[in-house]
Amino acid sequence: MVAAARLVIAGLSRSVTFGGDLLKRVAMKPPSIDAGRETVFVGRGLTKIYATGETEVRALDGVDIDLFRGEMVVLLGPSGSGKSTLLNNLGGLDVPTGGALSYRGRDLTEADERELTLFRRNAVGFVFQFYNLIPSLTARENVALITEIAPDPMTPEEALALVGLGDRMDHFPSQLSGGQQQRVAIARAIAKRPEVLLCDEPTGALDLKTGITVLEAIEKVNVDLGTLTVIITHNAVMAEMADRVIHLSDGKISHIDNNPTRRPVRSLQW
Ligand SMILES: Nc1ncnc2c1ncn2[C@@H]1O[C@H](COP(=O)(O)OP(=O)(O)OP(=O)(O)O)[C@@H](O)[C@H]1O
Ligand SMILES: [Mg+2]
Repeated sequence: MVAAARLVIAGLSRSVTFGGDLLKRVAMKPPSIDAGRETVFVGRGLTKIYATGETEVRALDGVDIDLFRGEMVVLLGPSGSGKSTLLNNLGGLDVPTGGALSYRGRDLTEADERELTLFRRNAVGFVFQFYNLIPSLTARENVALITEIAPDPMTPEEALALVGLGDRMDHFPSQLSGGQQQRVAIARAIAKRPEVLLCDEPTGALDLKTGITVLEAIEKVNVDLGTLTVIITHNAVMAEMADRVIHLSDGKISHIDNNPTRRPVRSLQW
């Protein structure tokens, strides 16, 4: 039954795989190479306006952004500056109210729910502050939930080994520390080999030492799989682990820092 479902879903994703032509190509913006870097996302004039009653919140207010294959980006900014909104729009959890957004030359702003679902399923891994693991399933089974519906997944064992949990596969979430649970969540997010890993305050609920193990796992995924990785944080020290640091303020990008070299997580001074 599971095998049959997997076949059907694998077949479906072969015919309409994201990266196929399900989403409309954006005529003006084919995938481009910028100084040798392959462009993954292009956003121009992105706005997200929440209208509640009389008040209007401009969560994104004209964001121009390019994100490249394999890079590590840290998103910094005060509370309410639009970080989560930007991440959710990139990941197809939400759609902007204005502007243009494309993923590998394909338009995300015009995508319908089915197209967005396929985009999220095939191209994007999410990691949130809270791990959202299923308590009655082991680490291996939590990851297997995703690998059973992905077209070209790694095994749960490979994914868990990648985040340093090869010896804890048969533990339930309640038998794991917060950092270990978050690493299971990372394994679950990347087991399908997504092109993009989006992390919204992945260490927000963890103490410093545990947070470092989680960041090391994210760093390893970025390096080993070449996954474009975007991490939201309030911790400015984390800026040094990135190739680029994008600063948001009042729904706008205030500036972008390019780090000439990025520093390994284990070498950061907290
Ligand atoms: N569903 C919503 N309805 C109305 N306003 C919203 C909604 N979601 C976000 N906002 C508003 O949009 C703005 C940006 O919110 P967002 O969550 O992106 O900020 P953030 O930078 O992630 O903040 P934090 O660091 O606190 O997580 C805020 O003013 C917020 O109140
Ligand atoms: Mg947020």
